[in-house]
Amino acid sequence: MAPEKTILVTGGAGFIGSHVVRRFVTKYPGYRIINADKLTYAGNLENLTDIEEKRNYLFEKTDIVNKQAVSDLFFKYRFDGIIHLAAESHVDRSITAPDEFVHTNIVGTVNLLNAALSLWKEDTEGKLFYHISTDEVYGSLGRVGLFTEETAYDPKSPYSASKASSDHMVRAYGHTFGLPVIISNCSNNYGPNQFPEKLIPLAINNIKNNRSIPVYGKGENIRDWLYVEDHASAIDLIFHKGKIGETYNIGGNNEWKNIDLIKLLCKIMDRKLGRQEGSSEKLIIYVKDRPGHDLRYAIDSSKLQNELGWAPIPEFAAGLEKTVDWYLSNSKWLERIISGDYEKYYDRMYSGR
Ligand code: NAD
Ligand code: TYD
Repeated sequence: MAPEKTILVTGGAGFIGSHVVRRFVTKYPGYRIINADKLTYAGNLENLTDIEEKRNYLFEKTDIVNKQAVSDLFFKYRFDGIIHLAAESHVDRSITAPDEFVHTNIVGTVNLLNAALSLWKEDTEGKLFYHISTDEVYGSLGRVGLFTEETAYDPKSPYSASKASSDHMVRAYGHTFGLPVIISNCSNNYGPNQFPEKLIPLAINNIKNNRSIPVYGKGENIRDWLYVEDHASAIDLIFHKGKIGETYNIGGNNEWKNIDLIKLLCKIMDRKLGRQEGSSEKLIIYVKDRPGHDLRYAIDSSKLQNELGWAPIPEFAAGLEKTVDWYLSNSKWLERIISGDYEKYYDRMYSGR
């Protein structure tokens, strides 16, 4: 039987992408989901072991910077929809090595846009290029105010500048060529399967191993945290019900100063690990601030809530608790990342297929 839709998810082996792939593969058995991922250090197929044998799921190791590989992929599968998550995603890495952010985030996105344009040139009915972006494109807020869909772009890091460039290219292809595009800009995600270079999994791992928790500057920076499955549910809704040409902000309405978040995490970890209250907090150390560190991000997601009826589910403390439980009961996953063993998984599972 022909699939109802064939959907390309780029970056599906990464943190958010793996949650999106799992949701689509299990919720929509009539769809065929193709996960195309280069498997950089951030791509981990062990995130998807529970669904990798499903009949409506396929993995294609692909570098989106390789124009020919992207074009071949589109020719092979003739996608109806694209959910584009593949990116270099860590601000600190963009400060030490910006080039890869330009290649993957900008050039890679343009390669996908060109391939979609060429595939859909005769007929764009029912087709969608859905680009997943970040609230960081809006720059940094002061103590008050929220990012809305109308906020002018003002990216400040090489990461956010590369994502802003990709957003502009996506909008330009929509405006100039009539490509059916939608963009969403989301706040900071947390949850299972996040690579332990980002604040929350890094802190969980360090607390567990009695190592210091590095807090940049004074820990005064503020982020708006959203549970990753809430992001995946928003992506599902926008993919199916969003209006072509529109932008949707996604956020948790959940602002936390870094230092307060870390202290809450320390309390949860003390309880889970049966340690004396206050012992994990002693691991906090204040380190040199990130250059150009954005002070505050906060999202107004009322458009998505009012127009499409989306709402985030877990309270932050409950979401954080779930996240801690996941990392503690998946210590092998974490250990294999720290040791680098996860990178051998592809060869073992897919070589010769
Ligand atoms: P991640 O770093 O965990 O995963 C990125 C994935 O993209 C990895 O699997 C990696 O192998 C793949 N990839 C990288 N370069 C590639 C290339 N050249 N070709 C093919 N695949 C490549 O990132 P994430 O946190 O899951 O973020 C996913 C998307 O969501 C990104 O576009 C990011 O900008 C956006 N976003 C992330 C957050 C967040 O808090 N993590 C918030 C808002 C938006
Ligand atoms: P991060 O998880 O890197 O996400 P982003 O920079 O995209 O918001 O960082 C979240 C916040 O935590 C940010 O203000 C930087 C800060 N931070 C630390 O204080 N220490 C750390 O070790 C890391 C990784 C981040």
